[in-house]
Amino acid sequence: MAKSRRSRRTGHLESRPGRLIALTCPQEHTRHRPEAKAASVPDLLAHLSNRRSLPLPALVEPGPSAEELTQILTIAARVPDHGKLAPWRFIVFSGDGAKRAGDALADLAQSREGELSEIRRRVEETRFTRAPLVVAVVSTAAEHVKIPIWEQQLSAGAVCLNLIHGANAKGYAATWLTEWPAYDAEARVILGLKPEETVAGFIHIGTPNEAPSERPRPDLADIVTHYQGPAA
Ligand SMILES: Cc1cc2nc3c(=O)[nH]c(=O)nc-3n(C[C@H](O)[C@H](O)[C@H](O)COP(=O)(O)O)c2cc1C
Repeated sequence: MAKSRRSRRTGHLESRPGRLIALTCPQEHTRHRPEAKAASVPDLLAHLSNRRSLPLPALVEPGPSAEELTQILTIAARVPDHGKLAPWRFIVFSGDGAKRAGDALADLAQSREGELSEIRRRVEETRFTRAPLVVAVVSTAAEHVKIPIWEQQLSAGAVCLNLIHGANAKGYAATWLTEWPAYDAEARVILGLKPEETVAGFIHIGTPNEAPSERPRPDLADIVTHYQGPAA
């Protein structure tokens, strides 16, 4: 019987280097290592089945410690990334910096709209302090010979969700927002963005002080089709 070996690069079985004789998939890897499957998948399944955002007033102190934040951001950066470009970066808003960002945004709004009402001013001033910590996920996607900008931007979206999962894994709740400062040219300068960069999300993180309620989810019947071949 011909001897085969597993390619270190692709994980596929090869009869000799470079010759594919059987396709493998992630499930097949775990089939060979049942102990890896048993580890913590039930917890992950429960988390993914129940994850929800919370409104900002429900994100309270304490926020993640510096050490926890490092771990959360490390998880966030562990995403599929075509071409290994890492086409994203983080800006962390906390403490005085977060307060200064809000003050500057309130001043910007006032310079355009005239004297702001007390409520409106407060909304702008607290934009980055309503949760203990806000992380801006910034897409740095740029023209590339091989990797489309769209794929680089998708990777930034994956970073946002992984950041939420990472925060959840450390016991924090997280909410993904954008709102006007993400899209306003002058606000983006205040927040430290370069003209060619885009805000993928401002991820607000804090300790949950309430349980999330459920919200309607799409009916799979409306969004799933099983491909049968090219249309006649
Ligand atoms: C890219 C992006 C931007 C969002 N921006 C806002 C926003 O500015 N304001 C808002 O109320 N919700 C915004 N949301 C929606 C909130 O994250 C929303 O609370 C969340 O989708 C609730 O869904 P979940 O419970 O599954 O987490 C945004 C969502 C995404 C994906």
